[in-house]
Amino acid sequence: MRGMIGDPPNFARDLPKAELHLHIEGTLEPELMFELARRNAVPLPYASVEDVRQAYVFSDLQSFLDIYYAGCRVLLKEQDFYDLTWAYLTRAAGQGVRHAEIFFDPQTHTDRGVPFETVIAGIHRALEDGRGRLDISSGLILCFLRHLSADAAMQTLANAMQYREWIVGVGLDSSEVGHPPSKFRAVFDRAREVGLLPVAHAGEEGPPDYIWEALDVLQARRIDHGVRCAEDERLIGRLVEGKIPLTVCPLSNVKLGVFPTLQQHNLKQLLHRGLMVTVNSDDPAYFGGYVGDTFQAAAAALPLSRADLVTLARNSFQASFLPEEQKRAHLDALRRFVDQPSLKTIS
Ligand code: ADE
Ligand code: ZN
Repeated sequence: MRGMIGDPPNFARDLPKAELHLHIEGTLEPELMFELARRNAVPLPYASVEDVRQAYVFSDLQSFLDIYYAGCRVLLKEQDFYDLTWAYLTRAAGQGVRHAEIFFDPQTHTDRGVPFETVIAGIHRALEDGRGRLDISSGLILCFLRHLSADAAMQTLANAMQYREWIVGVGLDSSEVGHPPSKFRAVFDRAREVGLLPVAHAGEEGPPDYIWEALDVLQARRIDHGVRCAEDERLIGRLVEGKIPLTVCPLSNVKLGVFPTLQQHNLKQLLHRGLMVTVNSDDPAYFGGYVGDTFQAAAAALPLSRADLVTLARNSFQASFLPEEQKRAHLDALRRFVDQPSLKTIS
């Protein structure tokens, strides 16, 4: 039997990694929510930070989204979006994150009268500081809210064109069931025409057919969640053959009832079937862990071997939208991290 010496308990947490499925609005910790509510004189339906945490009990995706969108009401000024993003980056930096591709939901804010520019300028400024001060590279992915109309999505894309160089891709999120990817064919066609890289949430609560549509209609380069692909053998074949990454979020899936427990999550089965699986935090302020915490929790519950963990970290860089030479540099750094003498295995 192989054992490990000197393997620190934080191996999974500290592994160099990329985060590819992270909603910036989902990083709003209750403490910052209170601070912004005070700064902006926005009333909150909670008496205290503890009260907020106690309210975070969800039965499904919609029950979460209702609370999550309500929390966003404290975000009003450019500095608020900066503070939100900077807080995420500092936490991520402490958990091995070297590159982050971050979702933002402009419609959540523009529909409340907050200008698109306020949102993107605050996030972008923090990402630039993250690059300079924390050595975290990043990309920004604009998500369309799928419970809203296809026309509203097209208008959002038009507003974004002024900031085209700050955005790497487009995504699709919010209430999945009843809002298939095909509803957004035209806006994804347009986004691809201007060089934005498409991803989409599919197969979180929705059926495998939505994953097929994300691939065939939207030409998604990654599937966000995608865990319901396990119900369709032909789809698994397509994902393996096409090396289509899945950005899996195990803590989120348990909190939203997609799997009853972390032990019953299918992450390890999908990984061992040859899918390009990555591990991500989704909305860490709501689901109880940032990406390093998520690696650790999944490693303990499933359990995952050290080789599984290294594969997941490697996949995170390979599945990113980084140029090839930057991927290679991250993969080399990962290898050096794993090969540290203090982390060597014994037989
Ligand atoms: N928006 C934020 N988190 C989400 C999730 N897990 N699924 C769909 N939309 C989301
Ligand atoms: Zn998500």
